Amino acid sequence: MNAPDSIYSNAMTTWLAALAADLEQRQRDHLWRRLPIVQSAQGPVIKIDGLEYSQFCTNNYLGLADHPEVVDAARQALSRWGFGSGASRLVAGSMQTHHELELKLAEFKHTQAALMFTSGYAANMAVLGTFARAGDWIISDKLNHASLLDAARFSQARHRTYGHLNYQRAASLLARIKTQLGSIPPTLDSIDPTENPGNQPDESRDADSGGLGRIFLVTDSVFSMDGDLADLRELAALGRSHESLLVVDEAHATGVLGPDGRGVAALQDVEIDVAVGIGTLSKALGSVGGFVFGERSVIETLINRARHFIYTTALPAACSSAALAALQIAINEPQRRLRVLALAQRVRTELAAMGYVCGRSQSPIIPVLLGSSQIALAAAEWLKDRGIFVPAIRPPTVPPNTARLRISLMATHTDEQVESLLKALQQMRENQSIMGVAR
Ligand SMILES: Cc1ncc(COP(=O)(O)O)c(C=O)c1O
Repeated sequence: MNAPDSIYSNAMTTWLAALAADLEQRQRDHLWRRLPIVQSAQGPVIKIDGLEYSQFCTNNYLGLADHPEVVDAARQALSRWGFGSGASRLVAGSMQTHHELELKLAEFKHTQAALMFTSGYAANMAVLGTFARAGDWIISDKLNHASLLDAARFSQARHRTYGHLNYQRAASLLARIKTQLGSIPPTLDSIDPTENPGNQPDESRDADSGGLGRIFLVTDSVFSMDGDLADLRELAALGRSHESLLVVDEAHATGVLGPDGRGVAALQDVEIDVAVGIGTLSKALGSVGGFVFGERSVIETLINRARHFIYTTALPAACSSAALAALQIAINEPQRRLRVLALAQRVRTELAAMGYVCGRSQSPIIPVLLGSSQIALAAAEWLKDRGIFVPAIRPPTVPPNTARLRISLMATHTDEQVESLLKALQQMRENQSIMGVAR
């Protein structure tokens, strides 16, 4: 029976109580998350919950999210095409500006074609969900972005991870899979067509899968919480020697690393070895949306088969117009890339001299490893009280006992802003109530 004052069913009352208990436990474990209310553009100074802070936490590495030319491009697109795109790409949402951006992205990435998705998350789901089938294998770095790990689960393939950057382990997994292949029955299709009669899985999806035993080697090129780089040369060599296909997520590298900001595959000269590349418009390119780049057949297959492409409304034209403008600026103004990389180098050097542990960062993302969630929260709060916004990153976003401050730099940070960050971190290092426990 319902409690007399409850308006909900028994099932709902019990469920809400369980949710409340789980949330309370999260609070006790220092894992509670709450949304800040941002009241300004995404510049180096940001207004949050009524107060201004110097921020070192966004992925707006080149400072393009609020660049006047980017905003103006979006504004012009709004005037010309309105806001909503009204339909999926395959129906009537494939706006001219989406095509222009895709051509430009393909040219930028030196590939035959590119395709936009509503987010980088969706792009990753689409890639592994489309190409990795029953009987195939996915081998991924343990610290790959959540979207790649989720995509591996969503796919029909078997999934194994290797320790972060542990390519020896990746090689032994590949060798073991190679010897096992042929003896493994394909997993059953986990999508029940009766659940969603309007959007049934494409029967032809499995026409050429049949347990072919393809192996996909999947990695971030810049790891999002550590800022370190994959050794794509090593992975490309493994791919070649074990007949595996290399899938690389260049979300944090696009616009920032490699010649013209083309990414880590270009930096390490292995672009030819990348079977599928993924990028996002939402970080250095200051817009929103993800994209995939590669051979034309890869892109045409996604257009024809990817559920995350077919069954969703296209992004507004303004997103691709803004990204087009941002990409042009990123290419024309290499000084932005050089500046953010130089600032990151300076911060890394000074933090190391202060005794902080910052991992192997080689990008604008610098982790300051603190250990427990409680210490990371206290550190973030301490900086916030001094006008600096660098939120604590805690499990499950990062592995247990590796809670951290994730500093990220922007080309538009001033020297003074960076100096004030370093000064505050120096003072924090000397503060026993925070760092005494962390050391
Ligand atoms: C490595 C990586 N891939 C993909 C994504 C998802 O991109 P988006 O934010 O465009 O969904 C992220 C976002 O944080 C990321 O860090």
